[in-house]
Amino acid sequence: MKNIPHDYYLRFIDPVAYDEVLDFHTKGNFLIHEAFKDSTALYFLNPKDLACLTGNELHLYPDMQRCLPLNYTKKAQGDLNRNESCERFSESVISFDVVERLMTPLISKSKKTYKRGYPSGGALYPIEVFVCSLMQDHQTWPCPEKILHLLPQTAQFEIIQGSENTDGLRSAILAAPADIGSPSVAIVYAAYLPKTFFKYRYRGYRLALMEVGSIYMLIELQAKKLKLRSRLWSAYSDTMLCKAIGLNPTLFLPLCVHFLGGSE
Ligand SMILES: Cc1cc2nc3c(=O)[nH]c(=O)nc-3n(C[C@H](O)[C@H](O)[C@H](O)COP(=O)(O)O)c2cc1C
Repeated sequence: MKNIPHDYYLRFIDPVAYDEVLDFHTKGNFLIHEAFKDSTALYFLNPKDLACLTGNELHLYPDMQRCLPLNYTKKAQGDLNRNESCERFSESVISFDVVERLMTPLISKSKKTYKRGYPSGGALYPIEVFVCSLMQDHQTWPCPEKILHLLPQTAQFEIIQGSENTDGLRSAILAAPADIGSPSVAIVYAAYLPKTFFKYRYRGYRLALMEVGSIYMLIELQAKKLKLRSRLWSAYSDTMLCKAIGLNPTLFLPLCVHFLGGSE
């Protein structure tokens, strides 16, 4: 039985340890909804303090001036230079073949290997990638459903059933007061926690967080190559987002959203 049902992992899980991690994880959930727009925020800091505390490098010896210069050339950085994040997306159409090319760095090199374009602790691959169209114009989108689940090993998309209407998805990830314009595509990176937890328990949670970072960085670089603008996003409601995709929020943890499109 190689293509096991996803809840098969639950047989191998320590429920107490799992609950502890879920409790901790849930503390980072953020509710954005029209009804709460004046009372919820990710932080409550004044702009002056925020400006002072943002964008810094950490000097271990701030009073000492003992540093060595790092010699490098811009050319040596080459293609591995990502673009800065997009401040505001314009309403633009991305054709589906570009969406497919965007995914290629994640795909296994051949159907014979389980290995993928990114490393994974214990080869457990707990991160699931969902590609969601936010476009008004869907001329090249291949099906009425707007959310696709990537299967990186067999190079396929699973079609998320009932995802023709994206109103729920939009209100989960694009709610006021944040205004990012009109991204064309949202990629949702969600950890299927049991898939790493059954083996590594608490440490599996850590490994899943790191895996997301390596995946989104590949997408950042590929987006640059395809001349798309991008921005990672954490201002969304986890449970609303799970509901929009049809995922159980105690098993699938949406760790990050990646917007892509054209810039204004
Ligand atoms: C995991 C993650 C989540 C982010 N979430 C948000 C967000 O919710 N809203 C936002 O405006 N920017 C978000 N960003 C973008 C950062 O603000 C941005 O990367 C940072 O300001 C550095 O700018 P740069 O990406 O242009 O280099 C996020 C970035 C990361 C890596």
